[in-house]
Amino acid sequence: MTSTLSAPRITGLQARVVEVIRETSDAHTLILEPGEGFEENFNYKPGQFLTLRIPSDWEGGAARCYSLCSSPQQDEKLKITIKRTRDGYGSNWICDNVQAGHLLEVLKPAGTFVPSSLDSDFLLFAGGSGVTPVMSILKSALIAGSGLVTMIYANRDEQNVIFKDELIALTKEYPGRVNVIHWLESVQGIPDRASLTALASPYLDREAFICGPGPFMDAIEQVLLGAGMPHERIHIERFSSLTTDPFAPIDIEVDENATDNKVVEVQINGETSTVLWPPKNKLLEVLLNAGIDAPFSCREGSCSACTCILVEGEVTLDRNEVLEPEDLEDGYILACQARPVSDKLKITYDE
Ligand code: FES
Repeated sequence: MTSTLSAPRITGLQARVVEVIRETSDAHTLILEPGEGFEENFNYKPGQFLTLRIPSDWEGGAARCYSLCSSPQQDEKLKITIKRTRDGYGSNWICDNVQAGHLLEVLKPAGTFVPSSLDSDFLLFAGGSGVTPVMSILKSALIAGSGLVTMIYANRDEQNVIFKDELIALTKEYPGRVNVIHWLESVQGIPDRASLTALASPYLDREAFICGPGPFMDAIEQVLLGAGMPHERIHIERFSSLTTDPFAPIDIEVDENATDNKVVEVQINGETSTVLWPPKNKLLEVLLNAGIDAPFSCREGSCSACTCILVEGEVTLDRNEVLEPEDLEDGYILACQARPVSDKLKITYDE
């Protein structure tokens, strides 16, 4: 028997824009609430992001990922902050068009830039608008955790410091637990290896979270590794522009009688299911086709939202822009890029 999906476009969740706040001359914060009927779908963890569908005439449409800067521990509504980038289609469309009352189509909050425990001591690095997920982690750690938090926050100049007032308020509210170190390029120049080493060295026993421009993140990663911080305590959020549409239809055909089908046992949200996995399809496709609520965002191997653990069997990944060799050794795979090699496989999303 062959079951074929009619391949409808993936319908996202609806989020209503409650308010638009102008943070700086080119950064807007959108305050969001779940659209009617979607209240259960917006649970998120500090550091995660939303994928927004951007109206476009382009074939396949457009989508962009924006980190949540709100804290699930504190903020009733969700917040994302968007900074215009020159020639940035998504950021300019949002800053020019989105107003209170608009309904946006989004995917579930996703991402693995998330602390495993809010009670850890943290060393946070933010560069420019990369502050958004860092802000969510910082607030959540202060509100719900018990550790110390140091944030090193680099910006072009003082006018571009997003969340300046909120950071001042937090340092007053949590004296002795948080310190924010500003680095302004207009005053101190681009931070070099020596200055980054000096800033980081008192905090090398902490969990590090880094988000900002690519060269900024690379430099900090090298400094931390060079200073002896273990790889598993360095967490980096890398966004790359999406080249395909994550809302595009899942186009899959499952012939239940095909002799080359593989079988995968999937554990997710405490439930276990067994699914046929045709070798020509990727894991995420067969899971969504089977009605399993597997997480995803980019569907092109560049965001890690679909990460799960291969417990048994072997897969190949078509593309991998995010998992490090150490992650692969630990069994992490990208469901959106995985094709089966073994006849029987087991994966879990629950560890
Ligand atoms: S959904 Fe982004 S890497 Fe798989």
